[in-house]
Amino acid sequence: MTHGSSQWAIVTGASKGLGYHTAKALAEEGFNLVLFSRNKQRLASTIDELRSRKGEITIIGVSGDLRNPEDIDRLFKETYRYTDKVDYLFISYGNPLCEPSKIPDVPWSCWLEATSLYLASTHRILQNLISSNNGRTRVLVYNSFTITSPGHELLTVADAVRRGLSLLLKRTAYSYPLKLMIIEARFGSMKTPGAIETIRLVSRLQKIEPDEMWIIIREKMTPLNRLASYDDILALVKTVVSMPDYTVYTVLNIDGGSDSIVC
Ligand SMILES: NC(=O)c1ccc[n+]([C@@H]2O[C@H](COP(=O)([O-])OP(=O)(O)OC[C@H]3O[C@@H](n4cnc5c(N)ncnc54)[C@H](OP(=O)(O)O)[C@@H]3O)[C@@H](O)[C@H]2O)c1
Repeated sequence: MTHGSSQWAIVTGASKGLGYHTAKALAEEGFNLVLFSRNKQRLASTIDELRSRKGEITIIGVSGDLRNPEDIDRLFKETYRYTDKVDYLFISYGNPLCEPSKIPDVPWSCWLEATSLYLASTHRILQNLISSNNGRTRVLVYNSFTITSPGHELLTVADAVRRGLSLLLKRTAYSYPLKLMIIEARFGSMKTPGAIETIRLVSRLQKIEPDEMWIIIREKMTPLNRLASYDDILALVKTVVSMPDYTVYTVLNIDGGSDSIVC
């Protein structure tokens, strides 16, 4: 499956973790890419690396913050200089800066940050696609399996807000089926830089070793006792590409917690 130079995909949170692996998988598949994240230097080195692997595709970078609506509008403005049709959009985020925190200690600012990072940003992205994209976009959103299981007390803000994200995605997809196909990936766990840092902080607060925490995640929370790998992201990208056209909104549960799902 190679898409040559005709199809375009945007990836947010593209310089590290799930977003980075997604961008790499899309490059392997021959998509032209627009990559978005904050740190300009890290974004530039990601683009250099992907270009050196796959010379024939076009890759552009837009640096910006998902929490800033003007940055999201600029992402689309830059993209439309190259194409009037975004075929695919993969939304990956970071984590709220205030987490992990115990429920009684969560400050007001943390709720605002998490809401702008996950909810308002996603709404702004979808708003741009609905109002100005030429055609229908397949959108994959990285959510977490912990939104439907009793997740970790120290990560309540992200989980609570991301549960609302599901509703936003479903409602928007059903309202604009000719503009959007939305796939919500409720992700299990992968040793990304963000997850490693979160687990390090949670372990410190719980006074256990991070390695022990990773074993708990792998053996107690994932039915197949595994963590995700790059191959899983590649398979996910291929799944999005081959999803039947009649799909409007769907959820993919990827490892983790499926025994305790309470949709
Ligand atoms: N890894 C897992 O196991 C896992 C499981 C379930 C759900 N998730 C969720 O999936 C998402 C991605 O996780 P990850 O582990 O891949 O994270 P990660 O390793 O920390 O990578 C985050 C990426 O997003 C960018 N980013 C962070 N904040 C941003 C912002 N405000 N605006 C624009 N870009 C931003 C970062 O680059 P800059 O810092 O340069 O902006 C980086 O490229 C998160 O929402 C996470 O909660 C992850």
